Amino acid sequence: MSLRSDALEYSKNNYDFYQGILQDFIEIPSISTDPIRKPNMLEAANFIKNILNQFGIQDVQILETKGHPVVFAEKKSAIKEALTVLIYGHYDVQPPDPLDLWKTDPFKPAVRNDRLFGRGASDMKGQIIASLAAYHAINSTGQIPVNFKFIIEGEEEIGSPNLAGFLAKNKDLLKCDVILNPDAGMISPENPTIVYGLRGMTYFELNVYGPDHDLHSGMYGGVIHNPALVLSELITKMHDENWKVTLPGFYDDVIPLSDEEREQLSRLPITEDDLIRQTGAPALWGEKDYNPIERLGARPTLEINGMLSGFIGEGSKTIIPSSAMAKISMRTVPNQDPDKIYQQLKNFIEMNIPQTVKWDLKQFAGGWASISDISHPGVIALTKALENVWGIPPLFKREGGSIPVVASMQRILGKDSVLTGFGLPEDKIHSPNESLHLPTWKKGILSLIHFFYNYAGIE
Ligand code: BES
Ligand code: MN
Repeated sequence: MSLRSDALEYSKNNYDFYQGILQDFIEIPSISTDPIRKPNMLEAANFIKNILNQFGIQDVQILETKGHPVVFAEKKSAIKEALTVLIYGHYDVQPPDPLDLWKTDPFKPAVRNDRLFGRGASDMKGQIIASLAAYHAINSTGQIPVNFKFIIEGEEEIGSPNLAGFLAKNKDLLKCDVILNPDAGMISPENPTIVYGLRGMTYFELNVYGPDHDLHSGMYGGVIHNPALVLSELITKMHDENWKVTLPGFYDDVIPLSDEEREQLSRLPITEDDLIRQTGAPALWGEKDYNPIERLGARPTLEINGMLSGFIGEGSKTIIPSSAMAKISMRTVPNQDPDKIYQQLKNFIEMNIPQTVKWDLKQFAGGWASISDISHPGVIALTKALENVWGIPPLFKREGGSIPVVASMQRILGKDSVLTGFGLPEDKIHSPNESLHLPTWKKGILSLIHFFYNYAGIE
């Protein structure tokens, strides 16, 4: 039997080795949404496979889906009654755009101060390598105390459109006692965090079409309705004066926050100043009657992710654009059904759009919100593990971001995930200049080593 302290020591002696692997991983531009990057997606899947092989796991499969493949690996403990931990990760990343705002190339990892810069450094290549490093340190110093299974997908950042099907087909392969999902983050470097709630997400593209070509705005201005104007007016109507979403029925299925949970959330050390500092926005905004933590974790929203219409070059050009497009997404909370929201949005557009334009609405993949049981032995093991490293117990938080697999695993595998991660609010995930705070990441590796031993019940 190995000693926990040996594994901890081993990982500390190998931080540079693990960081080197992470840097090589970041160099692969595994952007799931971009068809041109398809070969890089396969390259990233193979990269994981090679690392797992190198780390002593021979049983690694790259399993095809209709989209990007899933990497699955398994390593059994020699201990007969060992529990099984299934570790989830995603090897895909968000597009790096806008490119000109990056201080260094998004796919040439660079260390500045305590941070490693690069797309995916925090979300979530760093978290995958931290998990692999913890496993590796344990495996290199003795016998593994639990059975390890890894499921690393390539479509999380586009809403995991093929993963539910994959889970349903591979239930036996995925049998486990606990799921560890390190794709959530921490509140601050001082406050390790366990996430017990995630918002869901559903995503749309709305196109509005007017004339069949761009028009001279003097020759036709005043007689032809401008699609950019139509789209902006429509979008404006999607919120009321209290910044509630106006789609009829949008809040019908929302479960109200209990007084008890409101009280607990209010104790989290996140201030309005923190949110302003993290974002650089001049002021906060949001739905009336709820405070920022409640709005982020437990209330649904409607966002505009991007808009495109007409002339956006330098200087001026006098046209009525022939079309206008908006990317619209909703963050949902438990019990809200993405299909119902599609209907609500469609009805809203039908009721509010003028007959002077044509339009169409596309829906992209998303996922349901989730709430996890915090009395699970896995949560208890992780609570202790974070305390082992940080010296204080973790905070329990409902997260505003989404990880579609968590609800799918609840529904299909009947299993809750234990959610944590070592990314910070300052990491700029999904934005230019994403980075990973290396000291926190290293503590993350140590706490995962503790987690596996704690969960196995081995001192
Ligand atoms: N890791 C994030 C989710 C997250 C962000 C959790 C911050 C905790 C804190 C994940 O990779 C992500 O970005 N998910 C997408 C899912 C969407 C495309 C369905 C998201 O939330 O936008
Ligand atoms: Mn992400």
